[in-house]
Amino acid sequence: MASPSLASADVAPGSVPAELLAAAADRWGTPLYVTDLGRAAANLRTVREALPTALIAYAVKANNDPRLLRRLVAEGAGCEVVNGIELALATRAGCPPERIIMNGVGKTDAEAAAALRAGCLVNAESLEELDALLALGVDGARIGLRLNPGIAAATHPHLATGAATSKFGIPLAALDGALGRMRDGGVAPASIGAHIGSAIDDPAPYGDLLRRLLPLARATGAALDLGGGWASVSMASALEMPSDVPLIVEPGRSIVADAGWLVTRVTRLQPRDDATYLVADAGMSELLRPVLYGADHPVRLLRAGGEVVATASVHLAGPVCEAGDVLAPDIGRWNAPERLRGAGPGALLAVAECGAYGAVMASTYNGRPRPAEAVIEDGRVSLSRRRETLDDLVSRDVPG
Ligand code: LLP
Repeated sequence: MASPSLASADVAPGSVPAELLAAAADRWGTPLYVTDLGRAAANLRTVREALPTALIAYAVKANNDPRLLRRLVAEGAGCEVVNGIELALATRAGCPPERIIMNGVGKTDAEAAAALRAGCLVNAESLEELDALLALGVDGARIGLRLNPGIAAATHPHLATGAATSKFGIPLAALDGALGRMRDGGVAPASIGAHIGSAIDDPAPYGDLLRRLLPLARATGAALDLGGGWASVSMASALEMPSDVPLIVEPGRSIVADAGWLVTRVTRLQPRDDATYLVADAGMSELLRPVLYGADHPVRLLRAGGEVVATASVHLAGPVCEAGDVLAPDIGRWNAPERLRGAGPGALLAVAECGAYGAVMASTYNGRPRPAEAVIEDGRVSLSRRRETLDDLVSRDVPG
């Protein structure tokens, strides 16, 4: 089955073989997202080994592929959700309400009420929201406090949610007021926590966070919720976690980022004086992270196509009508020159580190149907979401 032009090596060290991704692209077409459920489950286990007593509430927003959710929940994960739809996705995946945490600065009273009535933990992000949650009068409501700890972690500015200037959480200075309101309402805080950002690769800000929040959790008897945000699961073991308070973590990226690929096919070449653009059938409509955050996603050739005449740089661009629609500059960083020569029209490429915030951030801009999604489980690939169609795109049109 494997054609001689297929990469014989893995697409990334310790990951799935290129043949599997290429076979999936042959079967369901491109652009195609593929998530390796075994890898995601292994990442979850790494976090569990580092934090054996914690509730690990996987952040559904990172990748809501239905098979992925079902697998993570079956492996014991909870779910972190930010609205009623994500709550429904978690529930459909079989997640019991006691393992579901609802965050979100914009969740509505109706969404919060549904979550509280079901028995989920709902975090208030402001004093106003806390008042609204208390006013719902749900018996046995599990209400937590999401604080703004004023910690500006080093990451892209769009991803730094713990800074004092960000829109998230109750300022530490307002905590006493919040606890007073809860006391008046006869409700003890179920958790005290924060989420300081995403793609953070330095454990130091988590140490700061722990120093600020741990005494508060101890004093109130609440669980301590440290949010998510670590760039990789190896950081979970770098965190010095207390054993005397119940712990909650909300990882998204670290569970799924390295478990996913976007497979795309080169359709055209666009030569320039000192560079060549490979124009592929995936772009910013499928993967927004490069243009939105300047994110660097490794790109590797899976199967050769037409020839690319050597130029100084070979960039991977998408088909969208925006000059910023470049998925990766200089893919020679990940492909030897002799392989790169085969990256012309028809070539199959895999964009790596796409398991988190890839498919979920796809849009239909330029009239582009959202890509199909597949999963790898037990060495086999299967379709988990079909590609959108024109019928899907026009299905909300109101005749008239
Ligand atoms: N908990 C809360 C309250 C969150 O807002 C988030 C992510 C997480 C947990 C999970 O964070 P993670 O472990 O995945 O870093 N679109 C961006 C990421 C935005 C993250 C938003 N909140 C990206 O593509 O990098």
